[in-house]
Amino acid sequence: MVEVKKLHKSFGGVEVLKGIDFSLEKGEIVSIIGPSGSGKSTFLRCLNYLEVPTKGSITIDDLRLEASNHKKKDIVVFRQKTSMVFQNYNLFKNKTALENITEALIIVKKIDKRLADKKGKEIIKKIGLEGKEGFYPNELSGGQQQRIGIGRAMALENKLILLDEPTSALDPELVGEVLDLIRLLVSENISMIIVTHEMKFAREVSDRVIFMEDGMIIECGTPNEILVSPKNKRIESFLGKSFSEHIV
Ligand SMILES: Nc1ncnc2c1ncn2[C@@H]1O[C@H](COP(=O)(O)OP(=O)(O)OP(=O)(O)O)[C@@H](O)[C@H]1O
Ligand SMILES: [Mg+2]
Repeated sequence: MVEVKKLHKSFGGVEVLKGIDFSLEKGEIVSIIGPSGSGKSTFLRCLNYLEVPTKGSITIDDLRLEASNHKKKDIVVFRQKTSMVFQNYNLFKNKTALENITEALIIVKKIDKRLADKKGKEIIKKIGLEGKEGFYPNELSGGQQQRIGIGRAMALENKLILLDEPTSALDPELVGEVLDLIRLLVSENISMIIVTHEMKFAREVSDRVIFMEDGMIIECGTPNEILVSPKNKRIESFLGKSFSEHIV
C-alpha cells in the first residue's frame, strides 16, 4: 500500500533524511521510535508532502511521486490519501469541535454541508464528545482536543493515518483517553504510522517497530525484537537499561 524508496530530505545543505526505504501493508500499524532530531517528524511530513523530499520516491496505492519530477496536481491527490494527527492538535481555534471535524470534508472533499454535519456528529459520538459539538478548542481539555484531531482524520476516511507524537503534549492523566481512541482505530484495521515515546503502547498495538537515528532507519522488527530484546546496542541505550524489565 505504501512503498518508499531511497528517500532523502535536506534543509539548506543539511541532509536530515539519508535514504529511507520503507513499506507498509494495508491495515498495518508501524511505530517509529528514535532520539530527538533523528528525522521522525520529517519522514512523516514527507509522506504526505507537507515537506517535499529532495530525492527518492513515495508510492501510495497506485500513485507514485518522484521527488525529482512531480506535478502540483499530484500532490493534491497524494495529500488526500493520508491524514496527519499533530502533537499540538493543530485545531482551528475559531471553529467549534464539530466544525473542526467537518471543515476538510466540506472544503477538501466537497461534501454537502448537511451530510458533513451528519458524518461529523457520528464521529463526535465515536470519539466520546457528544454534547461538546459547539465547544471551541479553548473550552476543551488537551485530551478532548486531540480526540478531535484524531476524529478529523477519521472523518476523512483516508487510507493512512500518520500520527506524530499524538500524546506527548498531554498531561499524564489525559494520555489514556487518547490511546484508547487510537486502539479503536487499530481494531478497525486502519493503517497507521505512529511516532511515539509510549513504548508500552507501541508494543501493544504495533505490527512492526522502526528505530530511526541520524536520518536513517537503523532497525525494523517486531515489537519484541526492537523493544524487548534489541540486538542493536544503540537501541538498547536509547530505551535505557531498565526498560526491557519495565515493559514486560
Ligand atoms: N523546516 C526545517 N528547516 C530546517 N531544519 C529542519 C526543519 N525541520 C526539521 N529540521 C531539522 O531536521 C532534523 C530532524 O528533525 P525532526 O523534527 O524530523 O526530528 P524528530 O526525530 O521528529 O525529533 P523530535 O523527537 O524532537 O520530534 C533536526 O535537526 C531539525 O532541526
Ligand atoms: Mg518530531
